Amino acid sequence: MSRIDVHSFSEPDKVRVTHCSLRLAVSFAGRILEGTARLSVERLDRTAPLLLDTRDLDIESVQCDGTAVDFKLNERDPILGSALTIDLPAVADAVEIRYATRPAASGLQWLNPEQTAGKRDPFLFSQNQSIHARSWIPLQDSPGVRITYDARIQAPPNLRVLMGAPHKTQEGAEHLFRMDLPIPPYLIALAIGNLDFAPLGPRTGIYAEAPGLAAAAREFEDTERLVEAVERLYGPYRWGRYDLLVLPPSFPFGGMENPCLTFATPTVIAGDKSLVSLVSHELAHSWSGNLVTNATWRDFWLNEGFTTYLENRIQEEVYGCEQALMEQVLDRREIEKDLREFAPADQILHIDLTGRDPDEGCTHVPYIKGALFLRQIEHAVGRPAFDRFLRSYFDHFAFRSITTAEALDYLRRELAPQIPIEEWVFEPGLPQVPRAVSSRLEVAAGAAQSLGADDLPAGRWNTQEWLEFLRTLPRPLAARKLEELDGAWHLTEIGNYEILDEWLLMAIESGYQPAFPRLERFLLEIGRAKLLKPLYAALMKTDDGKILAHDIYARAHAGYHTIARTALEKILFL
Ligand code: BES
Ligand code: ZN
Repeated sequence: MSRIDVHSFSEPDKVRVTHCSLRLAVSFAGRILEGTARLSVERLDRTAPLLLDTRDLDIESVQCDGTAVDFKLNERDPILGSALTIDLPAVADAVEIRYATRPAASGLQWLNPEQTAGKRDPFLFSQNQSIHARSWIPLQDSPGVRITYDARIQAPPNLRVLMGAPHKTQEGAEHLFRMDLPIPPYLIALAIGNLDFAPLGPRTGIYAEAPGLAAAAREFEDTERLVEAVERLYGPYRWGRYDLLVLPPSFPFGGMENPCLTFATPTVIAGDKSLVSLVSHELAHSWSGNLVTNATWRDFWLNEGFTTYLENRIQEEVYGCEQALMEQVLDRREIEKDLREFAPADQILHIDLTGRDPDEGCTHVPYIKGALFLRQIEHAVGRPAFDRFLRSYFDHFAFRSITTAEALDYLRRELAPQIPIEEWVFEPGLPQVPRAVSSRLEVAAGAAQSLGADDLPAGRWNTQEWLEFLRTLPRPLAARKLEELDGAWHLTEIGNYEILDEWLLMAIESGYQPAFPRLERFLLEIGRAKLLKPLYAALMKTDDGKILAHDIYARAHAGYHTIARTALEKILFL
C-alpha cells in the first residue's frame, strides 16, 4: 500500500511544493481568472524538474527570480489533464507561473444573475474535490501534498469575495487571504457574489444572498453548539472561525468542507432543522479530512467513513438518540442498495481507482460502510475507549495525509479491536453488524404498510419520517391514493427538497401527471446531483419519460455544474 497517487502527475518525493501565492483577477465578462501563482518548492532531488498538474489552463510564462525558464505542457489526459514540466535552475526555490483559466474550467462554476436569488449580480464558486484544483491553479494536485497559501483576488467592487481561509484585509479592489495551516489542494476554495453575513455565535456565522439569509440563519442557529459538541468529543477546533456559505441551488453537492467556510446547498433548509446533519458532517471534516487527510483517493474512506461516524455522534449529542438512529436506519438502507447493485471491486473500502475519475469513488461505500466499520469497533471496545482512540488519532496524525495502511497500523497498535479488520477494508460486501432500529421510523413505515382506503398519515413528521413513509409505500401507487396524499399534505408544493425529491420520484414511477410541472421546475432550478440523478434515472425507464428527460436536460444543462453534468450524461446516455 503506497503513497503514490495515480491521480497526479507530480513527483513530490523529488520536488515538493510547500506554499502557493496566488494573485488573480476575476473577469465575469470573460469567465476567466487571470494572473500568477508563485510556488515555493523544496528540492529533494536537485536534478529533477518540477512536475505540476493542470487542466485546460493557458500558460503564458514561467519565471524563476525574474528570468524566464523552459516549460512543457504535455498532451491532455481526459481524466488527469496535462502535466506541466518546468526545468528548474539548480538554485531556484520558487517559480512564478503566469496563466489564465478557461470558461469551462471543471473546478469553477460561473453563474448568470438569473441563477442567483438576487437576479442582479453574477456569482462564482470553486469546487476542487477531487481533482479540480488543477483547472484553476497549476499545482501538485494530490491530497498527499499539503501546502500553505496566500491569495490576492481582484474582483468587482460591489461583490463579496470569500475563500476557505482567514480574510486578512482589502486593498482597493484586491482581497487578501492567508491560510497558514498546511492543507491539501482540494480544500482551496473561492466564492464571489452578492452575499450578506449573519453571526451565529462567537466564532460561527453564515453567508448567503440577502433573500435567503434569515431562513438559513434560523435553520443553522445551532452551529456554535455543534462545534462545542465536537470539541467535547474529539478535541479543540483548530481552524479559528467556522462559517457557512449557502450557495445558489446549482451547487452540485450537499456540502463541501472547505476550511473555515463550509459550502452548502440551499436544499437542506427544511424549516425544522431535520437536515442539519449536513453541518455536523462538514464540521466533522475539520477533524477527519481536513486535519487528518487521505493520502490518495484510494484512502477516501478515511475521510468520509470517519466523518459519517462522527456526524452521527454529533447528531446524537445535540439532537438526541432517536434523531441519530433515524439517520442510521436510512443510511443502512442506502448502503444495502449500493451493495446489491455494485460490482464486487467497487464494494471495497480500499478501492482501486486507477484509470478512473476519483469522483467515481464517491459512493455510499466509503461513507456508510466506512462508518459501520467504526461503529463495530466502538461496539467491540466500548464507547469510552473508542472515543479516547479517536481523539489520539486526530492528535497523532494532525496536519498529515495518511494511507489506509498507516491508519490501520495505528488502530492495531493502539486499540487492537477483536474484529475482522482485513475483511472490512479489503473485501467486498458487509460483515455482520447489528441493525439500528428507530421507533419513530417504524411508526412511519407501519403507516405506509397499512395505508388503507381512507386513512392518511397524521401528525408532524420530520424529513426522515416522511422519507421512510414514502420509501415504504408500494409502487406504483394508485393515482387516487397519490391524489389523496397530495390533497392532504400538498406534497407537490412542499418546500422541503428531500421530501419533494422522493415524492417526485414516486410521481414518475406511478405516472402521477399533476406533479410533472413541478418536476420540470425542480430539474431546471436545482443542480444538486444527488437529488437529480434518481429523477432522471426514473424517467429513463419509459419511452415517454426518456423523451421528457432529454427535453428537460437540453434546457437545464447549461445551469448545471460540470460535475453534475458528467454524472447525468451517463444516465441519459449522452
Ligand atoms: N467532501 C464531500 C463532498 C465531495 C466528495 C465532493 C467527493 C467531491 C468529491 C462532502 O463532505 C460530502 O460528503 N457531502 C455530502 C453531504 C453529506 C451530509 C453526506 C453531499 O454533498 O451529499
Ligand atoms: Zn464528507
